[in-house]
Amino acid sequence: MKKPIPFLELTRMHEDLAEELKAKFDQGLKKGVFSGGEEVAQLENRMSNYLNVPNAIGCANGTDALELALRVLGIGAGDEVIVPALTWVSTAEVVKMVGAKVVFCEVDHYGLLDINQVAHLISPHTKAIISVHLYGKMVDMERLMKLAKNQGIEVIEDAAQAFGAFQNGKSAGCWGDIGCFSFYPTKNLGALGEAGLLTTQNDRLAYLLRLMINHGQFQRDNHELIGRNSRIDTLQAAFLNVKLDYFEAWQNRRKALAKLYLEHLQHLKGIQVDSGILTEDHNAHLLAIQTGERDELRTFLDKEGIGTAIHYPLEVPAIPAFGGEREFPMAHKIAQNTLSLPLHPYLKEEEVRRVCVEVSRFFGA
Ligand SMILES: Cc1ncc(COP(=O)(O)O)c(C=O)c1O
Repeated sequence: MKKPIPFLELTRMHEDLAEELKAKFDQGLKKGVFSGGEEVAQLENRMSNYLNVPNAIGCANGTDALELALRVLGIGAGDEVIVPALTWVSTAEVVKMVGAKVVFCEVDHYGLLDINQVAHLISPHTKAIISVHLYGKMVDMERLMKLAKNQGIEVIEDAAQAFGAFQNGKSAGCWGDIGCFSFYPTKNLGALGEAGLLTTQNDRLAYLLRLMINHGQFQRDNHELIGRNSRIDTLQAAFLNVKLDYFEAWQNRRKALAKLYLEHLQHLKGIQVDSGILTEDHNAHLLAIQTGERDELRTFLDKEGIGTAIHYPLEVPAIPAFGGEREFPMAHKIAQNTLSLPLHPYLKEEEVRRVCVEVSRFFGA
C-alpha cells in the first residue's frame, strides 16, 4: 500500500515551526501575561496593515465574531437576515442566537450567495445580509454592496474561509459593514486552538465591538453596555504572530498546487473544477470539485489512502435543526456533488500528482 495522503496534515506544518512556537510559549510563561497584552496588540496592528482596514479586533472565534457583528448592528427579534443556503452552520446559527429570522437565499453554481435572488428576499424587516466567501472564493462584493446600500441594509462578511483573498485589491472582510474571520486550526491562517477577528471601517462599530468582547468595559468595572467575554486568547495571538510571517509563502504554495490540480483535472470528463481558484479573489482555501459520482469517488480514493472532505453534506435549511426544508435545488445539488481534495502548503507535488492520477483512473481516463 502506498503512503496515505491525508486530507490535511497540521502536524507536518507545525514540525517546521515547532521551535518558534515553543519559544513563544516560553516567553508567555516568563512574562505571565495570559490575557490581552503585547501579542494581541501586535496581531491586531499587523492584521490592520495586511488587510488595510483601520479596525482589526481579535476575538475568541469566527462564530462569536458573526454573532457580535449582529449584536452591535442592533439586530434581534423581529428582524430578518439573508443568509446563503450553503455555508457552515455558524452563519445561520448566529442569526437564531440573536433572536432574528434567518431568510435563506439560493446559491449560484459556485455555492456563493446568488445576488440575483437577494432582491426578491428583501422585506421591510430585512436588516442585514451575510455574504459567505465559501471555499475562499469571494462573492461579487461591489455588486452586493450597491444592492444593499441602495436599500439601507447592513452587510456582514463571513470571511472565515477567505483570509488572504482580495477583490480589486481590497481584502475580503473589508467591503461590508463588518468582516468576520476565523483562525480555526484548519484555516489558511490557523491558530493552535480557537481564535477569530472582526474588521470594520467604521470607528463607532469598532468601539462597540471592543466593548462587546470585553463585558462592555474598557476599564475594569466600568461597564458601558452588556457584553460578554469573547477576547482572543493571548497565546493564540502569539502563535498567529509566528504563523503570519509564513502566510504569504504558504499562499503561493497553495496556488502552485492548485494550478497543478487544474492542469490535470480541468479537462477531465465527469468533474468540474473552478479555475477561479487561481485568481486573487480566491485564497485557495479548499479545492472543491463537483461530480455526480461524488460518493463513489470518495470511497475509491479512500481505498487508495487518499483523504477527502465534504463542505458541506447538507444545505443548512435541510439540516433538521434548521427545519429540514429542501427548497434550494442548487444548494442541494452542490451539497450532493461537492468533494474537497487535499490542498495545503505542506502537500508535495508528487502527492498532488498521485491524487490526480487516481481521480483520472476513477473516471476511466
Ligand atoms: C464559513 C464559516 N463561517 C463561520 C465559521 C466559524 O468559525 P469558528 O470555527 O472560528 O467559530 C467557519 C469556520 O469554521 C466557517 O467556515
